[in-house]
Amino acid sequence: KKLAIIGMPMDLGQMRRGVDMGPSAIRYAGVTERLKELFDEVHDKGDIAVGRPEVEVDPVSNLRNLNLIAEKTELLANEVDKAIEDKAFPLVLGGDHSIAIGTLAGVAKHYKNLGVIWYDAHGDLNTAETSPTGNIHGMPLAVSIGLGHPLLTNVGGYGPKVKAENIVIIGARSLDDGERELIKKHGIKVYTMHEIDRLGMTKVMEEAIEYLSEKTDGVHLSLDLDGLDPHDAPGVGTPVIGGISYRESHLAMEMLAESGIITSAEFVEVNPILDDKNKTASVAVALMGSLFGEKLL
Ligand code: ARG
Ligand code: MN
Ligand code: MN
Ligand code: MN
Repeated sequence: KKLAIIGMPMDLGQMRRGVDMGPSAIRYAGVTERLKELFDEVHDKGDIAVGRPEVEVDPVSNLRNLNLIAEKTELLANEVDKAIEDKAFPLVLGGDHSIAIGTLAGVAKHYKNLGVIWYDAHGDLNTAETSPTGNIHGMPLAVSIGLGHPLLTNVGGYGPKVKAENIVIIGARSLDDGERELIKKHGIKVYTMHEIDRLGMTKVMEEAIEYLSEKTDGVHLSLDLDGLDPHDAPGVGTPVIGGISYRESHLAMEMLAESGIITSAEFVEVNPILDDKNKTASVAVALMGSLFGEKLL
């Protein structure tokens, strides 16, 4: 078993600087050392060259940094594609959630029926028309099903990347009106905090795993640290109270490890500037340990 770690230090999908330091913070929290125990080979591929481009101000399109994000996510897509061709499991470190546009572009072409678990407080299902902010980190899941600006939906040279019925959102507690409509229209499976409280994380994960393993040939885990409660993961740009606990999240990762369905992953929105002594990056690394099969005994 081989792991390829790819850093994507991009903060262009939202307005709070600092999330571009997420990959450094996660490395500082010991990601390589921790995962070395669980793989035969761990290769840290370094960071995608995002550079420090001047932010684009385009008041017309309601898509902040559209061209830059299209250009940089294309670079990430290539690197993720290479890792898979090299038979490695791609693990991408963000960066804000707009990086998922690149990760999924690199992953999806290797599967006929890719599934996606979107672990997040948010739906990230906005388009330019429905977004209250113009921030592209609120749009990548819509982009993945082919909705949004063509520069984004065609990253990697093809699209859509996934079918709406192959998506499961877990942890939602902040949805915009347009996102709610889109979820209903496309029948996207969503476990909100209500279902997590009511059914318990065990049942939620059992259902999600069964739902996806029936119809997919690979599953991408896109884990936004703001899916967790801000008490456990304070270093995020758009925190929402009432989230998934540290313990429930470990359970979820352990159940995914047991199921063996996850074929690629990304951990996003870690912002060390907003964090409490790198707590959020450390939580991310601990969750990766569970996702890749770490056991206490
Ligand atoms: N729904 C809000 C928006 O469109 C917030 C999105 C937050 N997304 C995230 N990946 N943290 O701006
Ligand atoms: Mn290829
Ligand atoms: Mn979020
Ligand atoms: Mn998100």
